[in-house]
Amino acid sequence: MSRYDKTHYWKVDINTVSVEDPNIQEAAIALRKGEVVAFPTETVYGLGADATKYDAVQKIFSAKGRPSDNPLIVHIGDKNQISELALDIKKHAFKLMDTFWPGPLTIIVKEKRVCAENVTAGLNTVGIRIPDHPVALALLQASQLPVAAPSANRSGKPSPTTANHVLQDLSNRIFGVLDGGPTGIGVESTVIDCTEDIPVILRPGGITLEAIREVIGDVIYDSALYRDDQKPKSPGMKYAHYAPNAPLWIVEGGVETLQKQINELTERGKKVGVMVSDEHVPHISADIVQSCGSKAHLEEVASKLYDVLRSFDQLEADIILAEPFPYEGIGEAVMNRLLKAASHVVKL
Ligand code: TXA
Ligand code: MG
Repeated sequence: MSRYDKTHYWKVDINTVSVEDPNIQEAAIALRKGEVVAFPTETVYGLGADATKYDAVQKIFSAKGRPSDNPLIVHIGDKNQISELALDIKKHAFKLMDTFWPGPLTIIVKEKRVCAENVTAGLNTVGIRIPDHPVALALLQASQLPVAAPSANRSGKPSPTTANHVLQDLSNRIFGVLDGGPTGIGVESTVIDCTEDIPVILRPGGITLEAIREVIGDVIYDSALYRDDQKPKSPGMKYAHYAPNAPLWIVEGGVETLQKQINELTERGKKVGVMVSDEHVPHISADIVQSCGSKAHLEEVASKLYDVLRSFDQLEADIILAEPFPYEGIGEAVMNRLLKAASHVVKL
């Protein structure tokens, strides 16, 4: 793996950033030279490299410690680039692009073999999106490249929603990071396979099933999403993911059940970390109590989720208990990530 004496740190103001910004130019030149650069998107920070260069893309895998059979999302700055990368694009895919791009929707289409083969991990499809973030767009436009970018965390860890999270995981392992402040949505893009007549959501995310249904009608979830006994179509969904250092349990049954679990673990000498909604904070007593926002505002919960999960590492919790959130709207994505972070351990 490449080690760097230092990771370049470029602060950018999201209100004034442009393609001509010297920091954007420096980062774009680094990408063109085959380096890896982290940058903010509207969902989470991404770790980018020139998607057409095998060696550049390989640096992403080694910096993250990512398994090579997990394909990367390709980010573009302009809709016209799609015809350079993809083949046989279906009508429903174009409709989704027109409606949701730029935005948190990754569309899987047949690939043209322009991207390096490690981007697609040997599949004949490629996932593409235009991010809705001024820094990401300036970088993509300045570099004039399709940029392969997974989330900029060490593989298995919670995704980064600040430049500081990126540096916690990847300092001296990557060439540089563009700091555009905290990301907005906080969970990753929705991944939708548009290669068949009825599109299939492989990963719930920033764009909800309901919003997609309004635009194209028929759409389904991958049947493997909520079951352990089926192979997911999105290779990334099979790995343990988003997890803090300490074991995480999801505790159903309300605050009383939760408090009982906390008490038992505390009596056994554990430093217990708890993640609950604002509504439940006053009713819980534990070593560490972190709020993830209001149950009534699941967008807020999504935006805080990874920061709260990471905070338990800093505070050195021995065990983390979390209450479940409703499977509504973006709550679907929140629960998908939380269940994976907990390796599906749910206590009643
Ligand atoms: O919001 C996001 O999507 C962020 C930002 C940086 O854009 N990126 C991100 O990338 O979350 P990553 O690598 O952490 O997750 C990509 C997911 C994985 O589950 C991967 O398996 C799936 O997308 N994926 C990518 N290409 C695919 C393909 N051709 N077929 C099926 N799944 C694919
Ligand atoms: Mg990821």
